Amino acid sequence: MFEHRHLLGIEHLKPSDITAILDRADTFATTPDSRAVRKDSLAGLTQINMFFENSTRTQASFEIAGKRLGADVMNMAMQASSIKKGETLIDTALTLNAMHPDLLVVRHPNSGAVALLAQKVNCAVINAGDGKHEHPTQALLDALTIRRRKGRLQRLTVAICGDIAHSRVARSNIMLLGKMENRVRLVGPRTLMPPGIEKFGVEVTDDMETGLKDADVVMMLRLQRERMDGGFIPSEREYYHRFGLDAAKLSHAKPDAIVMHPGPMNRGVEIDGEIADDINRSVIQEQVEMGVAVRMAVLEMLGEGRG
Ligand code: NCD
Repeated sequence: MFEHRHLLGIEHLKPSDITAILDRADTFATTPDSRAVRKDSLAGLTQINMFFENSTRTQASFEIAGKRLGADVMNMAMQASSIKKGETLIDTALTLNAMHPDLLVVRHPNSGAVALLAQKVNCAVINAGDGKHEHPTQALLDALTIRRRKGRLQRLTVAICGDIAHSRVARSNIMLLGKMENRVRLVGPRTLMPPGIEKFGVEVTDDMETGLKDADVVMMLRLQRERMDGGFIPSEREYYHRFGLDAAKLSHAKPDAIVMHPGPMNRGVEIDGEIADDINRSVIQEQVEMGVAVRMAVLEMLGEGRG
C-alpha cells in the first residue's frame, strides 16, 4: 500500500515503497516493438506541470506520462509568466490551488521550494527537481533501468561520478541505492564533493580507477556550470582527462558494467561520445524510456483515490 500524498523526495520512501513504484512502472515499460501502454486511470483528473527552471526531457516525460493515463495535462512555462512580474511562490501556489488541479508537477531552482509549495495546496505534488536537493523520479527511473538490466537492485556496486556537489540526481540516487542495500562510490574532484557526504554511507575517491574498480554500474553526471559560482575545475580539458569516462577508464569496471547518464550530456567533458553511443554499454536511451514508465506509475499511485 502506497500511503504518501506527495512525492517530494526519496528521503521519505521506505524500501517497500520503492519496490511498489518500480513494480507498477514495470507494467508500463514498453519494449521497442510493442505499442505504448495506454490507460484511462487518470481520466477526469487535471495535471499541471509547473517548471520554474528550463527542462526538456523531464517536462516532456511527465506530459507524455499523464496523457498516456488519460489526464488533462497543462504545461505552465513559469519562467515567462507571473514570476517575472514579481509574484511570490506562495501566491502562485494559491492561485493555482483555486483552479483545483489534482496533480502538480513542480521543478524549482531553490532547494526546499517544492516541499513549501506542497504545504499550501490541496493536490498531490511531485518534485521534478528542486535546486541541489532532490529529483526523486530520476532516481526511480535509474533504479528501474538498473533492475531490468541487472535483474536485481541489491548488492550492486554503483560508481556515481563527476559533479556530485551540484547534483540533485546524485543525492536522490545515493539515498535510493543506499536504502536498497547497494554499495555506492562517489568519484570526482574534491571541489565537487559535498562536505560530510561520507555520513550517507558512501565511499569517496578522487581517482577514477579506484572508484570504477569492479563496478556494476557507472553513472556519469553533467558538470552543472549554471550552479557554479567560481573556479571548481581548472579547465574542461583537464577535467575530461582525469574524470571523463572513456574506454580506458571504463575498463576498470566489470566487463558487463552498464553506463548511465541522466542527460543532458556534455560529450567530451564528462563522457566520451563513443561510450555514450555504445549500445553494448550505454543505457542512456533506456533511461529516457523508463522515465515515462516511472512517471506513469507515480502519477497513477498518487492520483488513485482522487478521482
Ligand atoms: C538533471 C536535472 O535537471 O537535475 N536532468 C534531468 O532531469 N534529466 C540533471 C542535469 O541537469 O544535469
